[in-house]
Amino acid sequence: MQEKILDLRQPLTKAEEGGTAPAAFSVKDLRLTFANGHEIKYPDIQVKPGEKVLLTGANGTGKSTLFKLLVGEAAASGGQISFFDQAGKKVKPDRTKIGYLPQQAVLLPSSVMNNITMFDPELESKAKASAADAQLSEAVDSWPQGLETPVDLAGDNLSGGQKQKVVLARAEVRDSQLLLVDEGTSAIDQAAGRKILDKLLQSKQTVVLIAHNLTKEERDLFDREVALRA
Ligand SMILES: Nc1ncnc2c1ncn2[C@@H]1O[C@H](COP(=O)(O)OP(=O)(O)OP(=O)(O)O)[C@@H](O)[C@H]1O
Ligand SMILES: [Mg+2]
Repeated sequence: MQEKILDLRQPLTKAEEGGTAPAAFSVKDLRLTFANGHEIKYPDIQVKPGEKVLLTGANGTGKSTLFKLLVGEAAASGGQISFFDQAGKKVKPDRTKIGYLPQQAVLLPSSVMNNITMFDPELESKAKASAADAQLSEAVDSWPQGLETPVDLAGDNLSGGQKQKVVLARAEVRDSQLLLVDEGTSAIDQAAGRKILDKLLQSKQTVVLIAHNLTKEERDLFDREVALRA
């Protein structure tokens, strides 16, 4: 039988009908074979509702790919992924309700506001608070148009760290029960990064964060660390 290879899908945009917002997950015997034959085998992982987990491992060990498998952007070659609600009951997931910050997050040529709300007008009232949580307030206050400042992709009017903060605010504003953050603070200065980390770790959300550059003290703030190996 032919081995199934990585199937890179479009991000899910439509809610998965009849599905529940996942708060936790587990993976068992999960593996993925790429077209070039390279295989990633994951250890069995269980993340409980509300847990704060640091996901580490050297470059190429499959951290980002694990998030893609969880949100449905990639398909596994074998094994199981299960999702659970806040009470720990197994559910059929609506994976569009997972908060996901990809390693290469994309900004759109529109206002900072629209980049945070992703054009959902119901989220506009919360955008300011989310921007504050992402340590973006100082920058927003300094822009004459505030949150209505256009993101000029060609002109690069936002710094790398400011762009990451916009994307963090985008994840924050949806209030998802499960948040997957792939190196979301790598371009953000130490002081702001620490504040963002504190906010994430004080929240009720289940948080899995991939980071390379945390201090020992910062790592100790998590409930536990899951280390992937090649
Ligand atoms: N679409 C793909 N096709 C082929 N190989 C891929 C693909 N995506 C990822 N890989 C390979 O899978 C492995 C895991 O990649 P992944 O991006 O998950 O690593 P990572 O742990 O997030 O690394 P980093 O710390 O550098 O971000 C790497 O060896 C990578 O080359
Ligand atoms: Mg990665």
